[in-house]
Amino acid sequence: MVSIPAQHKKILVTSALPYVNNVPHLGNIIGCVLSADVFARYQRSAGRRVLYVCGTDEHGTTTEAKAREEGVSPKEICEKYRAIHKRIYDWFGIRFDCWGRTSAKNHWAHTQKIFSELDQNGYIVEQTTKQLYSEESKTFLADRYVEGTCPYCSFDKARGDQCDSCGKLLTPLELINPVSKIDGATPVVKETTHLYLDLTKLQEELSRWAQAQGIAGSWPENALKTTQAWFDEGLEPRAITRDLSWGVPVPKPGFEDKVFYVWFDAPIGYISITEQGVGDEWREWWLDPDHTLLYQFMAKDNIPFHTILFPASLLGSDDHWTMLHHINSTEYLNYEDKKFSKSRNTGVFGDDAIATGLPADAFRYYLLALRPESSDTTFLWSDFEEKLNNELVANLGNLVNRAMTFTKRSLDGEIVEHELREHSQAFWTRVAALEEEVTMLLEQAQLKEALKKVMAVSRLGNQYFQEQQPWKVIKESRRDAEETLFVLMNLVKDLAIMIEPFLPATSRNIFSQLGCEQKRWDDLGAFSIKNASIGEPALLFEKVEHATMEALKVRFSGEQQPKAAPAAPTSRASSASPAVAAGFGPHALDLRVARITSVSLHPNAAKLYVEEIDLGPLGTRTIVSGLVPHYKPEELEGKLIVLVANLAPASLRGVESKGMLLAVEREGQVKVLFVDDAHASAGDRILIDGVRLDDALGQITIDQFFSLQYEVKGHVAHVSAHKLLCPDKTPVKSELAEGKIR
Ligand code: 2FM
Ligand code: ZN
Repeated sequence: MVSIPAQHKKILVTSALPYVNNVPHLGNIIGCVLSADVFARYQRSAGRRVLYVCGTDEHGTTTEAKAREEGVSPKEICEKYRAIHKRIYDWFGIRFDCWGRTSAKNHWAHTQKIFSELDQNGYIVEQTTKQLYSEESKTFLADRYVEGTCPYCSFDKARGDQCDSCGKLLTPLELINPVSKIDGATPVVKETTHLYLDLTKLQEELSRWAQAQGIAGSWPENALKTTQAWFDEGLEPRAITRDLSWGVPVPKPGFEDKVFYVWFDAPIGYISITEQGVGDEWREWWLDPDHTLLYQFMAKDNIPFHTILFPASLLGSDDHWTMLHHINSTEYLNYEDKKFSKSRNTGVFGDDAIATGLPADAFRYYLLALRPESSDTTFLWSDFEEKLNNELVANLGNLVNRAMTFTKRSLDGEIVEHELREHSQAFWTRVAALEEEVTMLLEQAQLKEALKKVMAVSRLGNQYFQEQQPWKVIKESRRDAEETLFVLMNLVKDLAIMIEPFLPATSRNIFSQLGCEQKRWDDLGAFSIKNASIGEPALLFEKVEHATMEALKVRFSGEQQPKAAPAAPTSRASSASPAVAAGFGPHALDLRVARITSVSLHPNAAKLYVEEIDLGPLGTRTIVSGLVPHYKPEELEGKLIVLVANLAPASLRGVESKGMLLAVEREGQVKVLFVDDAHASAGDRILIDGVRLDDALGQITIDQFFSLQYEVKGHVAHVSAHKLLCPDKTPVKSELAEGKIR
């Protein structure tokens, strides 16, 4: 085994700290928490002292915007989404050693201390700039929350930071006719003074460090290139404060009303979260650079913050910090023919993955096999099906199950040690060589290749089984059949060791079938399973039906069933169009009570119904909805529902749908929002508590519709925190106590 030099026995692993104002999708999960988990698990198995640190990044404009949108405090937003994130990561089997948060008081202390040292050391400068300010909301507007006409191409929905049409980077002041996306108001220009980290002064030291570390830590191509591009352009002072109230306060007179920019405090979160997890021992990790290797996992959009900004903060402060050793920055994961998009609900989100009913290890396997290491890759349901059935089931699952059942049925469940004959020795030599490669790849954090090699070992095992034919041999020589299974069971044990970082639950399952304790990396290649009896064989994975995957593909196509309210734009939605439609509010919604008169199956889509509905005085219409998995036609017919009546018509697989009914989803359960006949009649308008509804209603787009937040709280349906009411003012209620309305 290649070994890490003795003095580097501490392996500090971090995953980018997820923002908690949305539900993470599979692209986010493979981009950081899952990848870091695999590496940390490998290192633990290899006997090193490991600390895997992660937690929630709770500050930033996105959190504030989301809070405004949902009508709650930023703190409440963080609580809500932090719990959602944790539940998803637990389900995926992600094992953090420290799981903390950046809103904790010790995080303020670490951030403020580093800042004050940077200031004393002369690395902080003040600059006054002009910024757009909304008089209406009494707030400076973050770049992304201003929209206007692009000065270069005249596209009228250019964002303050970038034009989605011509791609030019912009500043909000360049926009023609700027509009605040928070409140629809026309912003004014106002002066504001901010603190800047003087990267120019640090450039020389920083670039010397990055040059050396890029080589020593084998940084991937994307990290080397991005970092070099920053140096080539020349580093400039960067603002590290913002005019917000939610964040870490700035400990400097004159800046009492400001907080630190989220990207200044977030990376310091790795340090404070370590302290939240292990107390004073945090110093042994962060202040011991000679004996600690820091591995940081993230998606590529996070690179410069980890190779430039965070290192600059550390270099310019007083302590001798453990700094980045190896950065592991993935490209993007796409979804079918689109991008994963939180705003458009495209793709599979963590809670969706749970709701599919497929095991977490199936997702782990597919995501790791697909890991976008050197270029973008694409999640395809058909490919997922193929990999599950042909690799997990037919290769690994098959080998383990065949070896187990043969041992159980034909050898009385006993693994008997024998001397290896030449062909077995030759086989084991090949296995050992592949295992060596797996180890080397994992040492270099090349997770995808390592997984491929593990599967190659398993394939070799299947071949050996096939060639040795123990089911025939046993008729002539029990001894020889025993030898084959002695070899195979030790191979199964090795596979269980090697697969553990990738598929921990599967590994536990194999060890339990073997009837032995979980073994670690140093047992690889040893014939440690001998003269023992095994436990009960059981299938590792079930084959998945083509129809199941097709149904999941339809369910998560993101077209006919948008589910969640949009998150405000996130750092990953770089090329997505603006999520929050300017000035659009609940007043512009036309929600009507309608009666379903008949329900039939959609001619071209297994999951869709075509419903005829009656709007009383407003006539009848046809709509399409994805309710086949959740309702029988007779459970819908005759019922009153809530219809989004002024939604622009859309063709769903060839059938035109004029409007959309509201349904509530929670953990895979879907319940239509029915209205009781006692409280409303077909055609009635649904009222929105505290909102004066527009009378002259234009059609709205699906994006506008989903720019508001719809959810059920305490059984009552809400839009943007306002209750939906029947004409007699009784609330519109759901059978589900909580959930998202889609
Ligand atoms: O992109 C993101 O989701 C950020 N919240 C990552 C922060 S990483 C670290 F610096 F905290
Ligand atoms: Zn443009």
